[in-house]
Amino acid sequence: MVVDGGRFLVTGGAGFIGSHLVDALLERGAARVAVVDNFFLGKEENLSDAKRRYGDKLQVYREDAGELSAMSAVMEAEKPDVVFNLATKALLYSFFNPAGACRVNLDIALALGELLRKGAYGRLIHLSSSEVYGTAQYVPMDEHHPLLAETSYAAGKAAADLLLSSYVRMFGLDIVTIRPFNNYGPRQNEGALAAIIPLTLKRIRSCQSPVIQGDGKQTRDFIYVADTVAAILALSGRDDVRGQVFNLGSGRETSVEELIKAICQLADYHGPISYQPARPADVRRHLAGIDSVRDLIGEPAKTNLLDGLGQTISWYMKRSQFDQLLSGNADGSVT
Ligand SMILES: NC(=O)c1ccc[n+]([C@@H]2O[C@H](COP(=O)([O-])OP(=O)(O)OC[C@H]3O[C@@H](n4cnc5c(N)ncnc54)[C@H](O)[C@@H]3O)[C@@H](O)[C@H]2O)c1
Repeated sequence: MVVDGGRFLVTGGAGFIGSHLVDALLERGAARVAVVDNFFLGKEENLSDAKRRYGDKLQVYREDAGELSAMSAVMEAEKPDVVFNLATKALLYSFFNPAGACRVNLDIALALGELLRKGAYGRLIHLSSSEVYGTAQYVPMDEHHPLLAETSYAAGKAAADLLLSSYVRMFGLDIVTIRPFNNYGPRQNEGALAAIIPLTLKRIRSCQSPVIQGDGKQTRDFIYVADTVAAILALSGRDDVRGQVFNLGSGRETSVEELIKAICQLADYHGPISYQPARPADVRRHLAGIDSVRDLIGEPAKTNLLDGLGQTISWYMKRSQFDQLLSGNADGSVT
């Protein structure tokens, strides 16, 4: 895939990873990038830089990517070469609305699979999740690891992956599935349903203790968002990946306790950490097997965790100072 001069559609493009992908596509010369986002967690401000710099090359549709008729109309208007599917409702939403969290993932995959089958666009890059594997049965977890989803979010992701691989087998469609492990970086949602890194930073900023759910020995494989986007683009630029599934992580395992302690140190927080009961259905161990991706595009995680956390912390600090300026508290005082 040549980005320069190409036409792209990003579902979930107003979200965390999606908005970084939109920036990268435009920076690399895309002729047009359409975003379909229902703004469940997406934010217009995530796209405001791109809008200011690239104007009408970026078009935002406030639609449900799981609605076939809406997506059909968007495709008709945009005629994308490649669709990147990043839309989803966050994992923690599973505990509020288990059926809805599952259904959204499958509905979007169905709509995109059907439209690809009908020739509305050329290639689907589908973002799945490491969550489809559940807790590691062995490490590193390669792409053949059994799908043992712990949450209904993950079950919906696994169902979407199975559906799309059936479309590859039945109709020979050009679909590439990427399973990122835990991402972090600027613009990750810090409001309701926030993941551990933005949540911890927000608690530290508002003088609350960071929280660890469970004993903190549960592990994750963290990858910085810019590395994820670079790897997605590198994979989507290749012809020899059609129909394949790729893990995308760092190949390094970090416990939640190590992570929180690193954040505390970088953010200069020396207060207590609060241990709370373990979250139900929390994955115990995750470590990505990344041989397949590494063989094709080299080491995906170029940013080490401490550097990436440092960049993330500075971004949130700058943004909160900016918010304080906007709300008139130029001295940074909290109202
Ligand atoms: N962040 C991670 O650590 C991580 C890890 C593994 C996989 N992923 C996958 O990467 C993708 C992007 O994740 P993210 O962290 O940027 O999430 P995010 O919540 O920041 O972004 C998802 C976006 O999808 C939008 N959305 C939700 N339902 C929609 C619908 N029906 N139609 C259109 N838009 C809808 C939301 O408003 C949001 O902007 C997701 O598919 C996610 O499963 C993320």
